[in-house]
Amino acid sequence: MSKTPLETLKHHEQLAELGGGADRIQKHHQSGKLTARERIDLLVDPGSFVEMDKFVTHRCTDFGMDQQKFLGDGVVTGYGTINGRKICLYSQDFTVFGGSLSGAHASKICKVMDLALKTGVPVIGLSDSGGARIQEGVESLGGYAEIFWRNVQASGVIPQISLILGPCAGGAVYSPAITDFIAMVENTSYMFVTGPDVIKTVTHEEVTKEDLGGAETHAEKSGVCQIVYADERAMFEGVRRLMDFLPLNNLDQAPVVKCTDPADRLCANIDKILPDVSIKPYDIRGVIEDVIDQGDFLEIHKSYAQNIVVGFARMNGKTVGIVGNQPAHLAGCLDIAASVKAARFVRYCDAFNIPIITFVDVPGFLPGTKQEYGGIIKHGAKLLYAYAEATVPKLTVITRKAYGGAYDVMASKHIRADVNLAYPDAEIAVMGPDGAINILYRKEVLAAEKAGKLDSVRAALVADYKEKFANPYKAAELGYIDEVIEPKMTRTRLIQALSLLEGKRETAPKRKHGNIPL
Ligand code: HXC
Repeated sequence: MSKTPLETLKHHEQLAELGGGADRIQKHHQSGKLTARERIDLLVDPGSFVEMDKFVTHRCTDFGMDQQKFLGDGVVTGYGTINGRKICLYSQDFTVFGGSLSGAHASKICKVMDLALKTGVPVIGLSDSGGARIQEGVESLGGYAEIFWRNVQASGVIPQISLILGPCAGGAVYSPAITDFIAMVENTSYMFVTGPDVIKTVTHEEVTKEDLGGAETHAEKSGVCQIVYADERAMFEGVRRLMDFLPLNNLDQAPVVKCTDPADRLCANIDKILPDVSIKPYDIRGVIEDVIDQGDFLEIHKSYAQNIVVGFARMNGKTVGIVGNQPAHLAGCLDIAASVKAARFVRYCDAFNIPIITFVDVPGFLPGTKQEYGGIIKHGAKLLYAYAEATVPKLTVITRKAYGGAYDVMASKHIRADVNLAYPDAEIAVMGPDGAINILYRKEVLAAEKAGKLDSVRAALVADYKEKFANPYKAAELGYIDEVIEPKMTRTRLIQALSLLEGKRETAPKRKHGNIPL
């Protein structure tokens, strides 16, 4: 007996939902991974997901492919909500041809990306794919390029988040690479342009998949991945939290949450955290957590370039981006990795109307041939450029050192920070006392050394220099610092300034685009 139209629909739906079939799903689960649909269920609000293109199939007839068709063709696409806010997504299904990308599979992703861009909602891509569908050749490569092109069009317009949940190899890595955030799962996800076998053939290096492109590698060494989660469930919970900090698009404001932390609360811990001796390290996170709402800090890129800390927080219920030099790591100096990490974060905040608060404690740029040969000049310039072009409210607190070029770069008044504060112990100068004295008083130092009075002469010169330059008052005298504040007042002052700056309007000169040093 033939099926009724309703029965046919149900049958089609069941087939689509079975992906590559029960056996492949079992194998997939055994490898420690959730299916494409299980992942969606954990990511979006229950019952909110609306699937599109459920019955799309590939068009390939070569290699017996016409005999192997799966409804949906290895990717589930659609839209739903996260904590009540709209998102579009796609989730690759590894049980169908290893989640590989065919022309039809790519068209589904492109359709949902177009919809996200048209409607101004974020797009979240869940990647678990063997890459280009080998049987489809150039049609698959074209499909990738269509996705890349859309990633670029959407950049700075809607948040794009890539969740890597399995393999992501070859040119396929370039879609996540263009998006705003890449998150990976420990042990089951990996990304590389060329895999271990090709590397062995070409360079004779032996490396495992995990060492080459696992979550730890990309979070700590390459900086490709911004957030690592212990498992898939933790990832979906984490991404839901991240989404709560972000606006839906570049014309939207980030969600405002009810704040129970008083706006005029005094910061009780900063005085205890800042060491008496200016060369002693401390953890800038303690300062940040004392200032922000309920100490709730979502750190991004935690394991990479640990000499700078970046992440999202709220002040009086509103999202802010935080950048802070980290004296507990490499004395908080700026190097290539820290400059690139912070520059990318500053540009993200600026693109999506998120005010930036910068905590400065920086002894300067890291010296050395490794840095110079690596291009610290152009990479350091990225951070300078990012801060200078940002038109969102920019607030700066100098907690201790602000030396040399790094003073200028770290959201100084001169590159148009709106409000610049400093603590009474702040040291703002061209360089630290020891370096300065070696240059300014070379003859006196040499003479003192000969006379066996080096320590006492040096101590007097250092004290004199510190009194003259290593304090915030010269900068305050010139108006480069708006106010020298007691550390306990930090939260109050920043919230007052943020409130004023809500009305900030600044327009950059008209141009096609700037030429950031890449
Ligand atoms: C078609 C593929 C496929 C692919 C996997 N499959 N990759 N089908 N095209 N690229 C199929 C397998 O035939 C198998 O089908 C199923 O997916 C699961 O694959 P397995 O090999 O059994 O799984 P596993 O052992 O877990 O290994 C996963 C893998 C491996 C590491 C991803 O399959 C693999 O190396 N695949 C090829 C990867 C690759 O070289 N891709 C091209 C990269 S270049 P059955 O029917 O048995 O279930 C590229 C260029 C992009 O992507 C350029 C963009 C510009």
